[in-house]
Amino acid sequence: MSNVCTHRGNILVSSPQKMREIVCCYHGKRFGLDGCFKSMPGFQQAENFPTEKDNLKKVGFSKIGNLLFASLFPNETFEDAFGKIEERINFLPLDQMKEYENYSRTYLVKANWMLYCENYLEGFHIPFVHPGLNAAIDFGSYDYEIDRLFNLQLGIVKESEEAFDFPENHPDADRKIGAYYYWLFPNTMLNVYPWGISVNVVRPIDEGTTKVDFKTYIWDITKYDKGAGADLDKVEREDEEIVERVQIGVKSRLYDKGRFSPSMEKGVHHFQSLIAEFLTK
Ligand code: FES
Ligand SMILES: [Fe+2]
Repeated sequence: MSNVCTHRGNILVSSPQKMREIVCCYHGKRFGLDGCFKSMPGFQQAENFPTEKDNLKKVGFSKIGNLLFASLFPNETFEDAFGKIEERINFLPLDQMKEYENYSRTYLVKANWMLYCENYLEGFHIPFVHPGLNAAIDFGSYDYEIDRLFNLQLGIVKESEEAFDFPENHPDADRKIGAYYYWLFPNTMLNVYPWGISVNVVRPIDEGTTKVDFKTYIWDITKYDKGAGADLDKVEREDEEIVERVQIGVKSRLYDKGRFSPSMEKGVHHFQSLIAEFLTK
């Protein structure tokens, strides 16, 4: 919830601390730990006070395992997307993952953020751009699932590769999956591997520059850097190189938008449809 007092806008809490209630240090407005208004000195004569506006504003909030997510202005309820994702992956020890900052990285890409996302949203280019990853992936079985505001790519891997150990009743129990690639509209990716999750956050800096954070959360270090979840830095650099070429190519006066492959570019089509929908809202 908001950390800003609903009176004159003072910042309420500046450091982690134990407290029974929140008291503003400016004029003494008090709130419960749930953000509800409790009392305020000097307002005895105020009419229509308090109202709903005196409570601290709440934001959309959810979690997957111990990863916390918030959205200031959620378009749809968190449960809609996160509920479905968690149901699919909750056989994994999600509460045990820890951030490994040494394995986390930030990349600066000389391309528009949307081109970066489009590249992420198809596995079509894997045999051409990622020879290493291609050796682990069973390209013929690579699959896509499209939901309303997120989509999933299923990284089916070859027999010898590291894969999820599914419980019997899991919907994917008969498949050999080395990675779930979730993309959440518009700019978040959750790459789920047998070792943990790599969260990618894509931030536009300007029209031709994008900053991408790779945050690494691991629950089983013994499986790290194997199968479809191996050499992520190399795969990222291969992606960047191609996306930076496309950034130049799409500006050509001789280029006009290309067609979508119906089987391989469902995710890219989904992305462009959502961008078009939200730009015209
Ligand atoms: S700003 Fe918080 S009580 Fe005045
Ligand atoms: Fe790629």
